[in-house]
This record gives sequence, structure tokens and C-alpha cells, in this order.
Amino acid sequence: MRKDLLGIKDLSSREIEVLLETAERFKEVSEREIKKVPTLRGKTIINLFYEPSTRTRTSFEIAAKRMSADTINISASSSSVVKGETLLDTARNLEAMNPDAVVIRHPFPGAPHMIAKEIKASVINGGDGAHEHPSQALSDLLTVKEKKGRIEGLLIVIAGDIAHSRVARSNILAFKKMGAVVRVVGPPTLIPYGIEDMGVEVSYDLGEAIKDADVIMMLRIQLERQKGGFFPSLREYSALYGLNLEKLKSARRDVVILHPGPINRGIEIAPEVADGPYSLILNQVTNGLAVRMAIFYHLLGGKE
Ligand code: CP
Repeated sequence: MRKDLLGIKDLSSREIEVLLETAERFKEVSEREIKKVPTLRGKTIINLFYEPSTRTRTSFEIAAKRMSADTINISASSSSVVKGETLLDTARNLEAMNPDAVVIRHPFPGAPHMIAKEIKASVINGGDGAHEHPSQALSDLLTVKEKKGRIEGLLIVIAGDIAHSRVARSNILAFKKMGAVVRVVGPPTLIPYGIEDMGVEVSYDLGEAIKDADVIMMLRIQLERQKGGFFPSLREYSALYGLNLEKLKSARRDVVILHPGPINRGIEIAPEVADGPYSLILNQVTNGLAVRMAIFYHLLGGKE
């Protein structure tokens, strides 16, 4: 297996299959009374987060602990980053303490790639700007595979703020590698120019786009990455691109709904949809933990 996990772009479909199969096996550990295996005993894993996170950081930490590794969490806001230390200096100083892996989330695309070249420890991308979020895409693949029994041939509709979404990018790459058809839908201002070159279908009409979907993945409007002016108001965005029970009537009865979280309830997804029978949102979180155990296993511990 490779040293780092920086993006879905680098993985072959076989590597993705192996990671998903490993994650399926690791799920059982979290259902035991004693939720622990010795796989990573003696290993040290650092979570280095320059952006807020609930799901990714917690699940990487729990994954490491369930595999008996020692874990340390560093938030940029409470580290020497606020005194002006550069990312590279931070990485080199952490490297001097000989960790085995660094999980990094950073607002700049390519930040994990840069430190991966500089340090011996494995680097795992926990989300870099609007570029990639590979562990989220693997969690989403596992969630769909579990429910549908396959990925190949499914129609996956990814809806909303495609332009600012690392989840969209990683999921487009992941689902396409595994043989699915991917359609993106959103307002023209939030669909990047030339996205068809990634091999996706493009739609600007949510009601039309979801009619034949097997999976609908709603995305959060990323106001923190937007410089403004992408749509007139949140109210109008919600009316046109928010998924509610009325719009869902046009979808197939066996459709499933994903959202990577955090959810803007009542904006891109209505509470009745997020909490309703088609929603797999919490399954994504459960699977996220198993996927992160599988990532650690292949980068640090295990043999195929
Ligand atoms: N999906 C996701 O990355 O969530 P967090 O920002 O809470 O980690």
C-alpha cells in the first residue's frame, strides 16, 4: 500500500475496493462490547486541523483509538500557528517527534501534498480547500454499496454548491472510478465551467435531475468559501435547489439520500427529508469511522 492518502485521484479502482472490503470487516469492531483491536499498538497519530470539523476529526480519532494507537489533536487556533508558524515548520516540528501518521485538514488545496513530500510519516488528507476529501468519498461509496449492493451502473446525482465542494470533487472521481454515472445539478454560478471534462452530466433543474436517480447527494452551501453573489438569497436558493418532500415526489421510490454534513436544515435539505426514510446521512457517519480504520490499517498496519 502507499505511504499517503492524499486524494481519490491517486487511487486505482482495485485499491478503492480493498479499502471498502477492509472497512466492511472493521465495522464489527465498533459493535463489540470492548471496541478495541491491537493493530496499531505503539503507533502515534496526529490530527492537525486548520479548519473546523466534527465528523472527520472525531472519527479519525476514534478510529485510531479503537486500533490502539496513541492520538493527539491539534487545532490551528490553539497552536503556534496563531503566532505565525508556517505549515511547513509546523509539519517539520511534529515530524521531529516521530509520529507515524498526520491527518491534516487545511483551507489551501494541496497543503497535505506539500507536507507529504517533506515528512516521513504517512499524510492523510482530511479535506484541503475545495480540492479533495478522500475519506468522505470512501464513506459515501461504502454507504451506497451497503444499501444498493453495487456501485457500477448506478446514477448518482450530486446537488448544490459543486464549485466550493471538495466532497463533490472526491465523490465524482470515486463514483466514476467504480463505474457509476454521475450527474451534477445546481445554479449555473455554482457549477464550475468545464466540469463536463470530469465525465459528468450537468443539469440546472433539481426536480428534473433527480427523476431517475438511484442516489441523491445534497451538498451544504459553503458560505465560508463564497465571496458572495452566487445567488440572490438563501430563500430563493432553497426554493429552487433545496430538497423537500414535494420535489422528492418526482424521484424513484428506492432512491437514497446522502449529505456529508454539516447540514443547513431548511436550506439545501428539508428536515423531513434529512430525517426521513430515504436518508442515509447517519449511516455515512458510521461508515466514516470504519473507512478511517481501514485507511489506517492499510497505510500503517496491515497487509493486504
Ligand atoms: N463531512 C465532513 O467533513 O464533516 P466535518 O466538517 O464535520 O468533518
